[in-house]
Amino acid sequence: MAILQFMSCGLPSTAVPTSIHCDHMIVGERGTDVDLPASITGNKEVFDFLESAAKKYGIEFWPPGAGIIHQTVLETYAAPGLMMLGTDSHTPNAGGLGAIAIGVGGADAVDAMVDAPWELKAPRILGVRLEGSLNGWATPKDVIMKLAGLLTVRGGTGSIIEYHGPGIETLSCTGMATCANMVQHEAAATAATIASSPDSSNLLQADAGAEYDEVVTIDLSALEPHINGPFTPDLSTPLSRFGDAVKVNQWPESFGAGLIGSCTNSSYEDMTRAENLVKQASAAGLEPKARFFITPGSEQIRATLARDSILDTFSLAGGTVLANACGPCIGQWKRTDDVSPGESNAILTSYNRNFKGRNDGNPATMNFLASPEIVTAMSYAGSTTFNPLTDSLPTPSGTLFRFSPPQGSELPSAGFAQGSPDFCPSAGLPSPSQPVLISPTSDRLAVLEPFDPFPNHELQGLRVIYKVKGQCTTDTISAAGPWLKYKGHLPNISANTLVGAINAATGEMNVAYDHFEPGIPKSGIPELAAKWKQQGKEWLVVAEDNYGEGSAREHAALQPRYLGCRVVLAKSFARIHETNLKKQGVVPLTFADKETYEAIDAGDEVSTAGLLEMLKGGGKGEVELKVKKRAGEEKAFAVKHTISQTQAEFILAGSALNLLAKIGLA
Ligand code: F3S
Repeated sequence: MAILQFMSCGLPSTAVPTSIHCDHMIVGERGTDVDLPASITGNKEVFDFLESAAKKYGIEFWPPGAGIIHQTVLETYAAPGLMMLGTDSHTPNAGGLGAIAIGVGGADAVDAMVDAPWELKAPRILGVRLEGSLNGWATPKDVIMKLAGLLTVRGGTGSIIEYHGPGIETLSCTGMATCANMVQHEAAATAATIASSPDSSNLLQADAGAEYDEVVTIDLSALEPHINGPFTPDLSTPLSRFGDAVKVNQWPESFGAGLIGSCTNSSYEDMTRAENLVKQASAAGLEPKARFFITPGSEQIRATLARDSILDTFSLAGGTVLANACGPCIGQWKRTDDVSPGESNAILTSYNRNFKGRNDGNPATMNFLASPEIVTAMSYAGSTTFNPLTDSLPTPSGTLFRFSPPQGSELPSAGFAQGSPDFCPSAGLPSPSQPVLISPTSDRLAVLEPFDPFPNHELQGLRVIYKVKGQCTTDTISAAGPWLKYKGHLPNISANTLVGAINAATGEMNVAYDHFEPGIPKSGIPELAAKWKQQGKEWLVVAEDNYGEGSAREHAALQPRYLGCRVVLAKSFARIHETNLKKQGVVPLTFADKETYEAIDAGDEVSTAGLLEMLKGGGKGEVELKVKKRAGEEKAFAVKHTISQTQAEFILAGSALNLLAKIGLA
């Protein structure tokens, strides 16, 4: 969708260096040799589209199998002082090299690609002071797992985290990337970066006398391994107490799969430490009891691990090496043979997210997050109550085996291998004659048609399609799951619009009534919206507090707009979604008095007074809504807005991209 939006601006190339990474659509099942070709075939039209658009606009294209975006960025693009936007919430990973890297929605990425201003409320700076040094089993993953527990998934809101203090001198670059990787989604911060003490030889130093809005201190010397989860990354339990927690909470006492790697934890250091544990166990004659999967983060790391026989060690121990891609981390795990759908079970991963259904689509799978070392060692027991630091395992020869703390290498002594040239990025100057490959019959890709500009008069006869009761997240407005397949096809994905919304009048989900037709027929919300779109009738949604919370998903603004939504009237908005609505030309309005929510219902007709003047006045002026109730009664009430001058221009042009296209082509 970001590329489709960029295309609609009509610019010959991107304003800033841009890259495309095909990592989220590769399935993990039987191993890279089988999984990768099957996924490339299954998603060919999407990859062909992306590659052709990349050629046309001079974008670097990393083909499927080249690696996971964050690992590739760390290896290739990250640098101290770089500011980067990425369309994935673990983009802060590049902070391990001192970048400010922020995960955003596609529409924000397009802002950067077309050289439009990108806005962010000035962040607080949250200092995380690291003291001492890691030892034994403790890892950088445990730093971020402990921090997620301290901050909780809301604690870093509005902050950029700066790791500092003497402890950071003891951590590797990839270890710091792991610490930065999980700050955005798992601790709600905007990004993370690192700063050495002013007296160190490291150039990445905090300013002398730098002050932080808040400081959290972690003593690395006293840090023990943590296991976080299930279902939320901030439920953090030290390993020594985890066995008890399993019993108290009645979590499963065995687990079926241990998965290591991913964008969070597939460095050479991570993998050599895991390999060391596998070698210890193999020497004792042990095999993993849980299924064991390894996801290298990039072709470079895969080739290096293969050259140094590390992947052989994993494979000989019974592990399955998956493609250099997200695979099970993003739900692309074809887990067909050990657990039935809906069956309660546990898995252990070195990934970063663990909400219900995240990995295998089964909401009853409890994903516990840990370091690759802990996942690997515990996979030999297959038991969630096993503590590899203190417990032993019986060996086939009848002795007892206990793991020694893992040893590894921060960097490969022979340097990194480059791997297959097939996975190198294509780069080059823009090639304007290159056609962008989109089949007109595709059900996954469709060229975006520009939205109509705002009419040169007040809005009249807008129909209230639905009055939403309670929470309305971006997921409520644009559901994920199987719909993700249609992210590049706005008409098709719009068939999921608001399907999770509760009808304030009836309590039903996704049941709308067409009060403008005899017999008041009922249907789903997207069906009614599509019918009105065909009839040329525009509409509005009425909602409660924090409309559009949850994520930056631009589809939640694009889809209603596509179906004919002109206004969203809510008690309040989530800030990012409110901005996204304005960018797509939808007017977000709030009740001057929240009680007025009670005065308006589905089936009412709404006209605006003062809206056009306010937009033409650059966001200045009062706006009123006039409501004609179904029974004929008329009411008027004041509404508020947060529309700035630039945003008013977006809305008048029909969308931000319409405006940018006008300016760009002028
Ligand atoms: Fe995201 Fe996991 Fe891929 S965190 S980038 S889905 S490896």
